[in-house]
Amino acid sequence: MLEIGVLVSGRGSNLEAVLKSIEKGMVRNARVAVVISNDPNARALRVARRHGAKAVALDDAGDSRETYGAKLAQVLMKNGVEPGRGLVLLAGFMKILPESFVGLYEGRMMNIHPALLPAFPGLRAQKQALDHGVKVAGCTVHFVVPEVDAGPIILQKAVPVQDGDDEESLSARILRQEHRLYPLAVKLFAEGRIRIDGRVVRRQA
Ligand code: GRF
Repeated sequence: MLEIGVLVSGRGSNLEAVLKSIEKGMVRNARVAVVISNDPNARALRVARRHGAKAVALDDAGDSRETYGAKLAQVLMKNGVEPGRGLVLLAGFMKILPESFVGLYEGRMMNIHPALLPAFPGLRAQKQALDHGVKVAGCTVHFVVPEVDAGPIILQKAVPVQDGDDEESLSARILRQEHRLYPLAVKLFAEGRIRIDGRVVRRQA
């Protein structure tokens, strides 16, 4: 059984997509052992509880990045998400993690980003894409490395930009694809079908 820990800060729609994919049996041999939010008021915590997952608010107020990372690791491990065995998912988690934490879960921590990386890393990626005038946007699931939004790419899905799109309409179109892509990446990982080869992620049949 793959023990998954999900780090969240906000709405939790990607978290919900992953929880549903497990409930429906699309992702097997995996369970969400714990959901941790740095914001105690995050909707994502309610989403977790509604689906019967353990939800922990771990307020980051006043902690250094290092200290907060150590606290996160403690909660994950206490709930069975062990380095080298478990899987950590960043799902709208708005904090930058320290290298020590990233190293602990190297190759076992994923993030979803609403752009076709390496284009438009960072905040408001959909707005960056619109402002740049791209005709194709999309989303990316990648492994987490210390540099933000820069790790080996696992899956990507292209989404067309339409005339008259604004940040909201484009974000909504991308989000629908995020909800398919993240569960698929988790499924591939849980089935042991993902291998990291330097910068390149190879997918096995
Ligand atoms: C998503 O657009 C995700 O790609 C980005 O943050 C947003 C989180 O949304 N990293 P939600 O909390 O999963 O609804």
